[in-house]
Amino acid sequence: MMPGFKVAIDGPAGSGKSTISKRVAKQLNLTHIDTGAMYRAITYMALEKKINLDDEESYKFMEDVKVRYEKERIYVNDLDVTSLIRSDLVTRNVSKVSSFPYVRKILVHIQKQAAENIDVIMDGRDIGTVVLPNADLKIFLTAAVKERAKRRQKDKEELGIKQDIDSLESEIIERDLKDSTRKESPLVCADDAIVIDTTHYTIEDTTNRIIEEILKKEKYHGRTTNEGR
Ligand code: CDP
Repeated sequence: MMPGFKVAIDGPAGSGKSTISKRVAKQLNLTHIDTGAMYRAITYMALEKKINLDDEESYKFMEDVKVRYEKERIYVNDLDVTSLIRSDLVTRNVSKVSSFPYVRKILVHIQKQAAENIDVIMDGRDIGTVVLPNADLKIFLTAAVKERAKRRQKDKEELGIKQDIDSLESEIIERDLKDSTRKESPLVCADDAIVIDTTHYTIEDTTNRIIEEILKKEKYHGRTTNEGR
């Protein structure tokens, strides 16, 4: 048996993956890794370096870049970019950057390595299908697009940014379309994933629902890693 208990959380933009994964991780002593933050970090770097975002070759700069997600912070070459990756400019460009096989190959490798031998909950778009195909539990989170736009609006308000709901909704629709139609590991629901529609659920409800599923797994109770975390 592979060491470590693995949970894969996938789903479209604004379905609550990161918020919920973070909470489940805290309550059950798992390490949380937000893979979307890694794609955002590379997008941020690409914009900083002013490379041609449409040319796959120009992403070779990734050879000299170390990406690391640790304790809910994201680093590139030890620079903490946690706040910088949430900019609108990064959000608008991340689906393009993450569509390149070269970019995905490097990040998927880092993600697989990071999940080795630990108890982990990883969230993204291709976790149950590509990164952790043998995960002990796979969850696919969805919610009606209107509700997801509302959640994003609230997140932004907390940061002091006002944006109208219609433009947020169209941004989400566009990103989902790009993510689910790209050739390389698109956003799809794994055959063996449990689908949870969170439209009418609170964060608490969804967190508890996932915890319930984890506690049903014998392997979770017999896990030997992450002790004392
Ligand atoms: O905005 P939200 O939190 O929903 O998205 P995110 O998890 O931060 O991911 C940002 C973008 O990264 C997605 O829209 C995808 O284009 C890309 N991504 C991906 O391709 N594969 C992953 N495993 C995670 C994110």
